[in-house]
Amino acid sequence: MRQIFVAGNWKMNGSLEANQQLINGIKAGRGINAEMAICPPAIYIPQIADLLTGSDISWGGQDVCEQVSGAYTGQISAAMLLEMKCKYVIVGHSERRTLNGESDELVAEKYSTALAAGLKPILCIGELLEERESGDTEAVVARQLNAVLDKVGIEGIGAGVIAYEPVWAIGTGKTASPQQAQDVHAFIRQILTEKDGNVAEKVQILYGGSVKPDNAAELFAMTDIDGGLIGGASLDADSFLGICQAG
Ligand code: 13P
Repeated sequence: MRQIFVAGNWKMNGSLEANQQLINGIKAGRGINAEMAICPPAIYIPQIADLLTGSDISWGGQDVCEQVSGAYTGQISAAMLLEMKCKYVIVGHSERRTLNGESDELVAEKYSTALAAGLKPILCIGELLEERESGDTEAVVARQLNAVLDKVGIEGIGAGVIAYEPVWAIGTGKTASPQQAQDVHAFIRQILTEKDGNVAEKVQILYGGSVKPDNAAELFAMTDIDGGLIGGASLDADSFLGICQAG
């Protein structure tokens, strides 16, 4: 039985004061069985680490450099994230693929570097609206997943988390229906099953894209949906807790 996992991706939002209030609100939550994590902007990771130390909520980065160290201005290494006691790091978020031109190969390198350092990567994959409309959803998701599988093998995928985030559902209020999401999640797990059935059974596959407290329970009830990667709704303690309580 896979545990439900809900991670908040704050994207480029927050301030010292707002973060403190939000974390205090989240820590006050009760009746949650889901595993929880917060991924704040990198500059706030030390603050969030201080606030969450001693709680059962983990934290992580939103991105990591594929290089170990050196002359990479503006980048953050996996070792630095680990030093700040991050457990997770998001790699391949669609905003970075689209706005920062990250290729499948670069995402695979980031995943590999994060894993080698001891972080648990959260690999984001998902199709654009035009790719869904042209019937290419499975081809796109398979291509993005296989790039990482080829690099780190099935054991490497088993050591991380996958997040299926259809790009057309991110920040649009247009969530995939539970069945639409389940179909892609089952397809992803099938690819993994062909490599190793035990790993495929264990790996958590999260759904992301306009998850809210009022749609989380029906999404998380689907066989192959093991939680959510939450953007907008993770910026409000009640909304985030409402989603976590659905798990
Ligand atoms: P929203 O929940 O705001 O749609 O964002 C989803 C997302 O991109 C999480 O990584």
